[in-house]
Amino acid sequence: MPDQEQSPAQRHREHVQREALKIGIDEDYISVLVDTFYDRIRSHEVLGPIFADAIGCNWQPHLEKMKQFWSSVARNTGHYSGKPVPAHQKLTQVQQDHFTIWLDLFRQTLADTAPTPQAADYFMERAQRIARSLQMAMFDRPGSFADV
Ligand code: HEM
Repeated sequence: MPDQEQSPAQRHREHVQREALKIGIDEDYISVLVDTFYDRIRSHEVLGPIFADAIGCNWQPHLEKMKQFWSSVARNTGHYSGKPVPAHQKLTQVQQDHFTIWLDLFRQTLADTAPTPQAADYFMERAQRIARSLQMAMFDRPGSFADV
Protein backbone atom coordinates (compact mmCIF):
# COMPACT_ATOMS: atom_id res chain seq x y z
CA MET A 1 0.00 0.00 0.00
CA PRO A 2 1.44 3.46 -0.86
CA ASP A 3 2.57 5.41 2.19
CA GLN A 4 -0.12 8.11 2.02
CA GLU A 5 -2.94 5.50 2.25
CA GLN A 6 -1.68 4.19 5.56
CA SER A 7 -3.03 5.44 8.85
CA PRO A 8 -0.58 7.18 11.20
CA ALA A 9 -0.80 4.13 13.48
CA GLN A 10 0.19 1.77 10.64
CA ARG A 11 3.05 4.04 9.62
CA HIS A 12 4.27 4.15 13.20
CA ARG A 13 4.01 0.37 13.50
CA GLU A 14 6.05 -0.18 10.36
CA HIS A 15 8.61 2.37 11.49
CA VAL A 16 9.04 0.58 14.84
CA GLN A 17 9.42 -2.78 13.06
CA ARG A 18 12.01 -1.42 10.60
CA GLU A 19 14.04 0.13 13.42
CA ALA A 20 13.85 -3.08 15.48
CA LEU A 21 14.93 -5.15 12.47
CA LYS A 22 17.99 -2.93 11.96
CA ILE A 23 19.29 -4.14 15.34
CA GLY A 24 18.32 -7.77 14.65
CA ILE A 25 14.93 -8.00 16.36
CA ASP A 26 12.40 -10.14 14.49
CA GLU A 27 9.85 -12.82 15.43
CA ASP A 28 12.48 -15.58 15.21
CA TYR A 29 14.70 -13.87 17.75
CA ILE A 30 11.74 -13.19 20.08
CA SER A 31 10.95 -16.89 19.97
CA VAL A 32 14.55 -17.81 20.89
CA LEU A 33 14.61 -15.22 23.68
CA VAL A 34 11.35 -16.42 25.26
CA ASP A 35 12.20 -20.14 24.98
CA THR A 36 15.69 -19.66 26.44
CA PHE A 37 14.56 -17.32 29.22
CA TYR A 38 11.74 -19.56 30.45
CA ASP A 39 13.97 -22.67 30.27
CA ARG A 40 16.19 -20.86 32.76
CA ILE A 41 13.22 -19.68 34.85
CA ARG A 42 11.90 -23.24 35.08
CA SER A 43 15.14 -24.56 36.48
CA HIS A 44 15.75 -21.62 38.83
CA GLU A 45 15.55 -22.67 42.47
CA VAL A 46 13.52 -19.63 43.62
CA LEU A 47 11.46 -18.60 40.56
CA GLY A 48 10.91 -22.13 39.17
CA PRO A 49 8.49 -23.23 41.92
CA ILE A 50 6.47 -19.97 41.68
CA PHE A 51 5.89 -20.56 37.97
CA ALA A 52 5.23 -24.28 38.54
CA ASP A 53 2.46 -23.42 41.04
CA ALA A 54 0.81 -20.97 38.63
CA ILE A 55 1.32 -22.78 35.35
CA GLY A 56 1.75 -26.47 36.20
CA CYS A 57 3.35 -28.62 33.50
CA ASN A 58 1.66 -27.07 30.52
CA TRP A 59 4.11 -24.36 29.52
CA GLN A 60 3.17 -24.09 25.85
CA PRO A 61 0.27 -21.57 26.30
CA HIS A 62 2.43 -19.39 28.56
CA LEU A 63 5.31 -19.43 26.08
CA GLU A 64 2.97 -18.51 23.22
CA LYS A 65 1.49 -15.68 25.28
CA MET A 66 4.93 -14.36 26.19
CA LYS A 67 6.02 -14.41 22.53
CA GLN A 68 2.92 -12.36 21.68
CA PHE A 69 3.67 -10.02 24.57
CA TRP A 70 7.26 -9.35 23.49
CA SER A 71 6.20 -9.07 19.87
CA SER A 72 3.79 -6.29 20.91
CA VAL A 73 6.28 -4.57 23.19
CA ALA A 74 9.33 -4.76 20.90
CA ARG A 75 7.73 -4.64 17.43
CA ASN A 76 4.41 -2.91 18.15
CA THR A 77 2.51 -5.76 16.44
CA GLY A 78 -0.54 -5.67 18.72
CA HIS A 79 -0.40 -9.48 19.05
CA TYR A 80 -0.89 -9.41 22.85
CA SER A 81 -4.09 -8.34 24.53
CA GLY A 82 -3.79 -9.64 28.10
CA LYS A 83 -3.68 -7.92 31.47
CA PRO A 84 -0.29 -8.37 33.18
CA VAL A 85 -1.13 -6.42 36.36
CA PRO A 86 -3.98 -8.64 37.67
CA ALA A 87 -2.06 -11.75 36.50
CA HIS A 88 0.79 -10.78 38.84
CA GLN A 89 -1.32 -9.37 41.68
CA LYS A 90 -2.78 -12.81 42.27
CA LEU A 91 0.71 -14.31 42.75
CA THR A 92 0.87 -13.92 46.52
CA GLN A 93 4.24 -15.72 46.86
CA VAL A 94 6.07 -13.12 44.81
CA GLN A 95 8.26 -10.74 46.80
CA GLN A 96 9.87 -7.55 45.64
CA ASP A 97 13.41 -8.99 45.52
CA HIS A 98 12.22 -11.70 43.13
CA PHE A 99 12.12 -8.98 40.50
CA THR A 100 15.89 -8.50 40.85
CA ILE A 101 16.36 -12.22 40.18
CA TRP A 102 13.95 -12.09 37.19
CA LEU A 103 15.75 -9.07 35.70
CA ASP A 104 19.22 -10.61 36.24
CA LEU A 105 18.14 -13.79 34.47
CA PHE A 106 16.64 -11.78 31.62
CA ARG A 107 19.84 -9.69 31.31
CA GLN A 108 22.00 -12.84 31.21
CA THR A 109 19.72 -14.46 28.62
CA LEU A 110 20.05 -11.36 26.44
CA ALA A 111 23.83 -11.34 26.89
CA ASP A 112 23.92 -14.97 25.70
CA THR A 113 21.46 -14.77 22.81
CA ALA A 114 20.89 -11.21 21.53
CA PRO A 115 21.82 -10.63 17.88
CA THR A 116 23.38 -7.22 18.70
CA PRO A 117 24.26 -5.29 21.90
CA GLN A 118 21.63 -2.72 20.90
CA ALA A 119 18.96 -5.43 20.85
CA ALA A 120 19.97 -6.47 24.37
CA ASP A 121 19.64 -2.84 25.58
CA TYR A 122 16.32 -2.42 23.78
CA PHE A 123 14.73 -5.42 25.55
CA MET A 124 16.34 -4.65 28.89
CA GLU A 125 15.08 -1.05 28.99
CA ARG A 126 11.54 -2.23 28.31
CA ALA A 127 11.72 -5.09 30.82
CA GLN A 128 12.97 -2.72 33.53
CA ARG A 129 10.19 -0.24 32.85
CA ILE A 130 7.49 -2.91 32.93
CA ALA A 131 9.01 -4.52 36.04
CA ARG A 132 8.86 -1.13 37.80
CA SER A 133 5.21 -0.65 36.97
CA LEU A 134 4.31 -4.23 38.00
CA GLN A 135 6.09 -3.70 41.32
CA MET A 136 4.24 -0.43 41.91
CA ALA A 137 0.93 -2.21 41.28
CA MET A 138 1.88 -5.15 43.51
CA PHE A 139 3.72 -3.60 46.44
CA ASP A 140 2.95 0.13 46.80
CA ARG A 141 0.26 0.58 49.40
CA PRO A 142 -2.17 3.51 49.20
CA GLY A 143 -1.11 6.14 51.69
CA SER A 144 2.49 4.94 51.78
CA PHE A 145 5.36 7.36 51.26
CA ALA A 146 5.74 6.21 47.64
CA ASP A 147 2.33 7.70 46.78
CA VAL A 148 3.05 11.16 48.18
C1 HEM B 1 9.41 -11.71 40.07
C2 HEM B 1 9.10 -11.48 38.81
C3 HEM B 1 8.01 -12.22 38.07
C4 HEM B 1 7.36 -13.37 38.38
C5 HEM B 1 7.58 -14.30 39.57
C6 HEM B 1 6.37 -13.59 37.34
C7 HEM B 1 5.53 -14.68 37.27
C8 HEM B 1 4.54 -14.86 36.35
C9 HEM B 1 3.63 -15.98 36.31
C10 HEM B 1 3.64 -17.14 37.30
C11 HEM B 1 2.77 -15.77 35.28
C12 HEM B 1 1.62 -16.69 34.86
C13 HEM B 1 0.35 -16.24 35.53
C14 HEM B 1 -0.80 -17.14 35.12
O1 HEM B 1 -0.89 -17.57 33.96
O2 HEM B 1 -1.64 -17.41 35.97
C15 HEM B 1 3.17 -14.54 34.63
C16 HEM B 1 2.55 -14.01 33.53
C17 HEM B 1 3.04 -12.94 32.83
N1 HEM B 1 4.18 -12.22 33.11
FE1 HEM B 1 5.30 -12.38 34.76
N2 HEM B 1 6.45 -12.56 36.42
C18 HEM B 1 7.43 -11.72 36.82
C19 HEM B 1 7.87 -10.58 36.16
C20 HEM B 1 7.44 -10.19 34.93
C21 HEM B 1 7.99 -9.10 34.16
C22 HEM B 1 9.14 -8.19 34.63
C23 HEM B 1 7.28 -9.04 32.99
C24 HEM B 1 7.43 -8.11 31.81
C25 HEM B 1 8.56 -7.52 31.49
C26 HEM B 1 6.28 -10.09 33.05
C27 HEM B 1 5.33 -10.33 32.07
C28 HEM B 1 4.31 -11.25 32.17
C29 HEM B 1 3.20 -11.34 31.24
C30 HEM B 1 2.95 -10.46 30.02
C31 HEM B 1 2.39 -12.40 31.65
C32 HEM B 1 1.09 -12.89 31.02
C33 HEM B 1 -0.10 -12.19 31.70
C34 HEM B 1 -1.41 -12.63 31.06
O3 HEM B 1 -1.80 -12.01 30.05
O4 HEM B 1 -2.00 -13.60 31.53
N3 HEM B 1 6.41 -10.76 34.22
N4 HEM B 1 4.24 -14.01 35.30
